[in-house]
Amino acid sequence: MLKNQRAKFSLQTGTTYLNCAYMSPGLKSVEKAGIDGVKAKRNPFKISTDDFFSESESLRIAFAELINTKESNRIVIIPSVSYGLANVVNNLRLTSTDSIIVAAEQFPSNYYPWQRLSMQTGAKIKIINPPLIREGRGKRWNELLLEAIDKNTKLVALGNVHWADGTLFNLVEIRKRTKAVGALLVIDGTQSVGALPFDIQKIKPDALICGGYKWLMGPYSIGLAYYGEYFDGGTPIEENWINRLHSENFAELVNYQTDYQAGALRYEVGEHSNFILVPMMLAALKQINQWKPENIQAYCAKITSRPLHLLKESGFWVEDDEYRGQHLFGIRLPQLLKTKIVKEKIQVNKISVSFRGDAIRVAPNVYNDEKEMMKLVKVLIS
Ligand SMILES: Cc1ncc(COP(=O)(O)O)c(C=O)c1O
Repeated sequence: MLKNQRAKFSLQTGTTYLNCAYMSPGLKSVEKAGIDGVKAKRNPFKISTDDFFSESESLRIAFAELINTKESNRIVIIPSVSYGLANVVNNLRLTSTDSIIVAAEQFPSNYYPWQRLSMQTGAKIKIINPPLIREGRGKRWNELLLEAIDKNTKLVALGNVHWADGTLFNLVEIRKRTKAVGALLVIDGTQSVGALPFDIQKIKPDALICGGYKWLMGPYSIGLAYYGEYFDGGTPIEENWINRLHSENFAELVNYQTDYQAGALRYEVGEHSNFILVPMMLAALKQINQWKPENIQAYCAKITSRPLHLLKESGFWVEDDEYRGQHLFGIRLPQLLKTKIVKEKIQVNKISVSFRGDAIRVAPNVYNDEKEMMKLVKVLIS
């Protein structure tokens, strides 16, 4: 069982940070990699042409290990989730009889691309609302999603967990259903990959897009995406030199190439060999691969189970374990409690959580402990 890892971070004492879904705190190893990256520019003659390729490749390999694929050239470095999804949109041909399925209140970067596509093609967006019940909410929401996928569905775009309250979507079942009707499955892994196991070989998504600064513990403005076979031979949203075949040969760059690098590398952002962000992201993934997401889930379960039990006994509502992340979950208040008052009490006690929709979003990680969760419980119950 993983032990508390706080010593690997520089988190200020006196605050209770239960908000990795907002942004992870920086690992000391990641901070050092960034500072080394900044310093490297002091002597540009030490940055070799190989350096444009080698660390990016190490980063792809580290992410490939995390999501269990051997095909590292299907993994690309992206600056944001919206960028990764723009590549998806650029390769879809929809008509007005087609539909796109999303869950209600998805993160805007995973809604606006479909809205634009819908406006351009007439394809319908089917928004699947959660049921207005508490008991069995996650289970029923999953059923509603499955029921909505029909022969007109061309794409399902979802998180593995809902970003606002951690509701877990059963991607194995959703994949089965999308396969049966010939629809694509595009996953936004920003709020799960890194802390919740994700297995490409089990889910076989058409694309998996992840921002890097939350559960992957990287810096801001870098993320990772996986594109499956559907995108082979497709059109990227930008044309840059490094994604073209033989770009390693700097002397021949103006011997313009029609072909791209293998796999999905055509979709990678220009200047992806970012000499500061890439080593930081790599240091983060090395650490996560060492911890392993299944151990992070188990750690989060261990530090939250007793506190959540006490909350439930006091009339608060949390989704059943089976239908939520252990690293990310929503706490809904008993009817008589006013959100505004709870918010103030949480702030006064220097506890960092987020309020999303009607839930308090709590997002612990390996630097937290049960005492911190108990502090939140005491504040809520008092
Ligand atoms: C589920 C989810 N997707 C994506 C993002 C970030 O999107 P982008 O990288 O486009 O800013 C967030 C940020 O909170 C998120 O929660």
